[in-house]
Amino acid sequence: MSKKPFYITTPIYYPSGDPHIGHCYTTVACDSIARYKRMQGYDVMFLTGTDEHGLKIEQKAAEQGISPKEYVDVIVDKFKKLWSYMNISYDRYIRTTDDYHVEAVQNIFKALYDKGYIYKGEYSGKYCTPCESFWTESQLDENGCCPECHRPVKFAKEEAYFFKMAPFAERIEKLLLETDYLRPKTRAVELVNNFIKPGLEDLCVSRTSFTWGVPVSFDEKHVVYVWIDALSNYITALGYENNAHDDYAKYWPADVHMVAKDIMRFHAIIWPAMLMALDQPLPKHLAVHGWITMAGKNGESEKMSKSLGNVVDPFVLGERYGQDAIRYHILREMALGADSLFSNEIMINRINSDLANGFGNLVSRTVAMADKYFGGTLPTEREGADIDEDFRSVILGLRSAVDGFVDETKIKQALETIFEGVSRANKYIDETEPWKLGKDEAMKPRLAAVLYNLLEAIRITSALLAPFMPTTMPKVWEQIGASAEDVSYDNLGSFGVLPANVTVHKGEILFPRIDVDKEIEELNEILRKNMEAAQAKLSAEEKGEEAPAEEIVLAPEITIDDFAKVEIRVAKVVSCERVKKSDKLLCLQLDDGMGGRQVVSGIAQYYAPEDLIGKKLQLIANLKPVKLRGVDSNGMICAADTPDGVKVIFVDDSIPVGSKIR
Ligand code: MSP
Repeated sequence: MSKKPFYITTPIYYPSGDPHIGHCYTTVACDSIARYKRMQGYDVMFLTGTDEHGLKIEQKAAEQGISPKEYVDVIVDKFKKLWSYMNISYDRYIRTTDDYHVEAVQNIFKALYDKGYIYKGEYSGKYCTPCESFWTESQLDENGCCPECHRPVKFAKEEAYFFKMAPFAERIEKLLLETDYLRPKTRAVELVNNFIKPGLEDLCVSRTSFTWGVPVSFDEKHVVYVWIDALSNYITALGYENNAHDDYAKYWPADVHMVAKDIMRFHAIIWPAMLMALDQPLPKHLAVHGWITMAGKNGESEKMSKSLGNVVDPFVLGERYGQDAIRYHILREMALGADSLFSNEIMINRINSDLANGFGNLVSRTVAMADKYFGGTLPTEREGADIDEDFRSVILGLRSAVDGFVDETKIKQALETIFEGVSRANKYIDETEPWKLGKDEAMKPRLAAVLYNLLEAIRITSALLAPFMPTTMPKVWEQIGASAEDVSYDNLGSFGVLPANVTVHKGEILFPRIDVDKEIEELNEILRKNMEAAQAKLSAEEKGEEAPAEEIVLAPEITIDDFAKVEIRVAKVVSCERVKKSDKLLCLQLDDGMGGRQVVSGIAQYYAPEDLIGKKLQLIANLKPVKLRGVDSNGMICAADTPDGVKVIFVDDSIPVGSKIR
């Protein structure tokens, strides 16, 4: 039987600045749902990407003296590295600068024009000449000036194309009020009252004042303005109006679009209108979440910003606590529809209480007791007790409850439910007091039953947690002796799946407890240094000086003969894959001009395998071979440590493989 399709999307992000923890929320949430659905046996398509056109990007690139494409390439790379680092399992990544998308947007724009839904008119409003931007009255600053540069604006007009909204108003109102398209539903009334009831305004869909966009095919002085370009990504990525992909019929309509509240209106009103105009089916659900906010100077919450007193760089946080802890924290804190306040302190307390004390402790205590009392392998002779039934029924109820929450995109509740199971299991330890049973030989069958039940509870809770924390849970399975089959979805609704004589393996501490005060002190120190560096850079720039360099301490001097001992050669990456059970290692097959070799490198957090394939790099060719995680590594590839993480030193393609570097 063919698997049922399931299509989920994040918004496509603006690559105008570095990604931060705020960008992670939607992506991690969609990733968790995608993984959960794959576990349930669905054929999942999980799409993310970048929205790369527009005036802002054009201006930022000009400031740096590079082309807009060069500018976005650098930031898109950072987004992809972050997603790889956070273990995001997207199936497809769309860039609105991809040729197929550009072609499809031109076709969509033309189709809407041919159907009479797009017409040429005049855009008028308050215009800021230096920023080349139109603003509405409500967007102006408190002095009635440009909200970006705060200079005076003037009334201006510009020829533009418009998309007619009125023909769709009635159907959209019904969609919002009478179906469960919008989640949470409470937002629907607000949208209808604010935008539909007063009369939907036509949408300006082209610009002539900048050029970094998709040209309108039949009127090339216009570029398509933002939303027709951006929203179309959800269907062009499947092959709508282009030949690059071919799964539109299979995956459309989308099961879930997930977005934050600031772009809800575009997804709740404009996107359905566009699809109605194109005679295409509407997506099934739009899930809207709030922002991750930070406490501002006067105690009010504000949208993420680095200057507000918290370290928010996901790479820094991931290095300190592990990516799964970060994933868990942001998912657990945010309720669908509401904002969630971020602070390093709340995060550390959450990691300590739920992950270190709650789940981690359950696993380590259970495995340690199986080891202590039975040498790691449980005996098959068991004895039950009434108390076990209540415990079992709580654990067995988890799967269907979590299924329901995932289907409703209520991830916080899904995690709370699993952790109710974890708490019940810890309570079961208190109720059964295994350390007392262990002292009495006659009670060993009872102790075996208790430990087996606990291992089963860990098996079920860890399997349900795996989509949310994909790096850690396989380590748990190794510790409790569970096979891949044991933790498959079909096996999560029953007890008695682990072998009766299961063997456990004591392993590393899953989530080490964090000393809150010490940690906050260290994080504040990081923040202080970052702010000092940013301030120094700013004042240097203001004075027109070069930014101050960091103090560099060199390694002890060597002679040319010492250096000659190192043989550096050019090699090309033929293939590359992740090393199993490692977050950090990639295994590269290299063409070194000497018959080829395999090298393992600790760069998986910074590069996806496909980023490296086909590239030429520098190989330390005469390094003594070693085994890393059981995999042979014959040499090392050269890379630089930079403030943005590790960067491989790539070599110009014109240099032949095998060339010696000196
Ligand atoms: N390019 C548009 C989306 C087009 S979708 C067809 C865009 N990009 S964005 O990069 O500015 O924002 C993308 C998403 O990230 C938005 O949903 C935005 O709200 C979300 N977030 C950005 N900062 C955030 C937080 N601090 N917290 C939660 N979400 C945040 O809008």
